[in-house]
Amino acid sequence: MGDPPEDFHARFAAPERLDLLLVIQRAGEVIGDLMIKVEDAWAPARAVSQARGVQAELGWSLRPEETGKGYATEAVEAVLRICFDELGLRRVVAGCFTGNTASYRLMERVGMRREGHSVKHALHPSGAWLDGYTYALLAEEWRGRDR
Ligand SMILES: CC(C)(COP(=O)(O)OP(=O)(O)OC[C@H]1O[C@@H](n2cnc3c(N)ncnc32)[C@H](O)[C@@H]1OP(=O)(O)O)[C@@H](O)C(=O)NCCC(=O)NCCS
Repeated sequence: MGDPPEDFHARFAAPERLDLLLVIQRAGEVIGDLMIKVEDAWAPARAVSQARGVQAELGWSLRPEETGKGYATEAVEAVLRICFDELGLRRVVAGCFTGNTASYRLMERVGMRREGHSVKHALHPSGAWLDGYTYALLAEEWRGRDR
């Protein structure tokens, strides 16, 4: 991110506009990234203002040599803390291909619930349309979980 710090903080203060790629650093070295995209929830026309910027979609990736050490878990938990405790969001969602065991194990480790199985919904780099899982976590689940 090339933004000056004041712009960075201003973006966090206006979560309905937040769409960021964060980096995961260890000892000053970038070892992965995290996407956080604040979105509107669906609402009927008369209630759209109440549904604006209330949820986020997350995504993540680690350098392959840095997997298996818990770094993604630590980083995703930090982002969930930002989403719920600082931005006051009501819901966080994420998804992965059904074969991406590492990613859905990570979601389950941080307390996310599997909500859906979509059939042939997304294009894999192999060129095949593959099934995906969607996961979610609500603010009340985050606050109520054992930590
Ligand atoms: C998804 C991805 C980030 C998960 O990486 P990961 O290394 O499994 O996740 P973590 O860094 O949290 O490490 C957890 C693993 O380290 C182990 N571990 C070791 N020390 C740990 C610690 N202190 N805390 C937590 N876990 C620890 C865990 O047991 C776990 O291994 P397991 O799943 O075999 O039980 C990684 O596989 C990746 O970058 N994949 C490619 C990109 C991708 O698919 N992104 C998702 C698109 S939807």
